[in-house]
Amino acid sequence: MNDKAYWKKYYEENPNPTEPSSFAKFIEGFIEPEKSLIELGCGNGRDSVFFAQNHLHVTAIDQVQQEMDYLNSHYSEYNLDFKAEDFTNLATDQKYDYVYSRFTLHSINEDAEGRVLKWVSNQLNCDGYFFLEVRSINDPMFNNGEKISETENITTHYRRYLDYSKTIEKLENIGLKVIYKIESQGLSVYKDDDPMLIRIVAQKTEN
Ligand SMILES: C[S@@+](CC[C@H](N)C(=O)[O-])C[C@H]1O[C@@H](n2cnc3c(N)ncnc32)[C@H](O)[C@@H]1O
Repeated sequence: MNDKAYWKKYYEENPNPTEPSSFAKFIEGFIEPEKSLIELGCGNGRDSVFFAQNHLHVTAIDQVQQEMDYLNSHYSEYNLDFKAEDFTNLATDQKYDYVYSRFTLHSINEDAEGRVLKWVSNQLNCDGYFFLEVRSINDPMFNNGEKISETENITTHYRRYLDYSKTIEKLENIGLKVIYKIESQGLSVYKDDDPMLIRIVAQKTEN
């Protein structure tokens, strides 16, 4: 099963937004009402719905068309637009105050990550924030499944694990200022999984 088919099946079984993630709650301290946010890889919309309820104008992208259609038909009362697109090849020229990516940069390879980071740097408004949470190379999950490179493995699906220092360097190289950073376990514990995560808030300081 390829990754898109994996997520399609997952959302067929779990279509509704669950509780917002701990990362979404964490960034509440950075966001202001009426600003615009785009979520890259929104899944079942748990965090996008939360942001819309917090009065942001939200665009939420995921590759699973059926799930985006389902969420648009059930959550239209919020200022929220779900779109089925590949977030590594977004065509839009629209600018955003916030770009949010949780557990999605590790879904794509390094070339695609390069395109995404370039896009983020171009599309963020001045003073806007890039919110990133992603599995680190020190995540115990990297020891599971089939290792296919020094940074990638396949369990139920593909993941690529990021290096903390290199990620910070990449963000600085695209002109973002890292204003919060941590690599730690205990940030997002789910059942038996206590991932080693990289959590970053980076700000665009000039156009
Ligand atoms: C681990 S889930 C995270 C979902 C959500 N951000 C959360 O934290 O609950 C990864 C999501 O990224 C989506 N995804 C992966 N690669 C994508 C791509 N290139 N374009 C759009 N969505 C993608 C998957 O369909 C899946 O919903």
